[in-house]
Amino acid sequence: MTDGSDNLARNKTDFQKRLADWYDSQARDLPWRSQPSLYKTVVSEFMLQQTQVKTVLPYFHRWLESYPDFESLATASEQSVLKSWEGLGYYSRARNLHKLAQEITLLTEIPEDAENWLQFPGIGPYAAAAICSIAFNDPTAVVDGNVVRILARLTADLKTYKNSGEAAKKYRALATALLNEDRPGDHNQAMMELGATLCLKQNPQCLLCPVSEYCEGRIKGIEKELPKFDKTKYESRTVNRAWISGPKGALLYKIPPDAKRMKGLYEIPSLEQLGFSLNGEKPILERKRSITKYRITESFFTYDEKTLNGKLPANCQWVAFSDLEALPFSGPHRRWIEELLSL
Ligand code: ADE
Repeated sequence: MTDGSDNLARNKTDFQKRLADWYDSQARDLPWRSQPSLYKTVVSEFMLQQTQVKTVLPYFHRWLESYPDFESLATASEQSVLKSWEGLGYYSRARNLHKLAQEITLLTEIPEDAENWLQFPGIGPYAAAAICSIAFNDPTAVVDGNVVRILARLTADLKTYKNSGEAAKKYRALATALLNEDRPGDHNQAMMELGATLCLKQNPQCLLCPVSEYCEGRIKGIEKELPKFDKTKYESRTVNRAWISGPKGALLYKIPPDAKRMKGLYEIPSLEQLGFSLNGEKPILERKRSITKYRITESFFTYDEKTLNGKLPANCQWVAFSDLEALPFSGPHRRWIEELLSL
């Protein structure tokens, strides 16, 4: 590896101590850190994947009120679990967390190491390392996007990666070499905390960083440019949707279990789902959004109920306006429905 990682490896104990002292004095007071439990650790780590702490906080509090432990979560309905997750995004996390609770409550002994946790639903290398190090002191290093950023800067790594996943693979060895085996959970959290609060993408706060003296990227003045990733190639898409409402309420589509994403959530049906073609009218609402590499224009058209010829298309149902609140939608669909109802 580069000179940066040699220097780090030589000074590993000092690096660990600086990081640990900083974490002990500066760590944010987060609800899953006070009186920690396996359940709180699991719920917080599922919620924190791809999502910032400030977004997660209100969801975490409500979740613990609705489902205080694995047992109450295991016996809840999938619809209520999805409803509680509404607006957090990446809904497979909610379904997997639900399944995980069902599996855990059937076990007589819960495994305590990352390798065995990989068998559970929704658990990849990141979640396994985070959960087992925090809850069981298992010495496995977390390598998430924050950790990749820190390590790329520490070692002044100029390589351009395809994505964060590719970089994470490369950095597993260094993250493991740096892990503080006396306090693996705190060490992992300290790395993630450093990435979330100081080693920021745009404006890293190097003057406050406890390990800046080991940072080759900073020494060379190139920290802001690291890590380097291929440019995302965005693709444009259009989705046309039918807003059909009347005395029976609104016609909605329930995403079926064999769909790729968002199974179990409700949405405003697309023309494709209904077998409709464009009716030549202007859209009554147009909204743009981004999902991964897609830039999507969502257009909403009104159709008369008669277009259905008295038949309900597959996976569709009429939902009374008063029942809309209780159903699970994605954040954007919830907003669009409110907008469509207020037109
Ligand atoms: N991001 C994900 N998990 C985290 C944790 N336990 N502490 C800080 N940031 C995190």
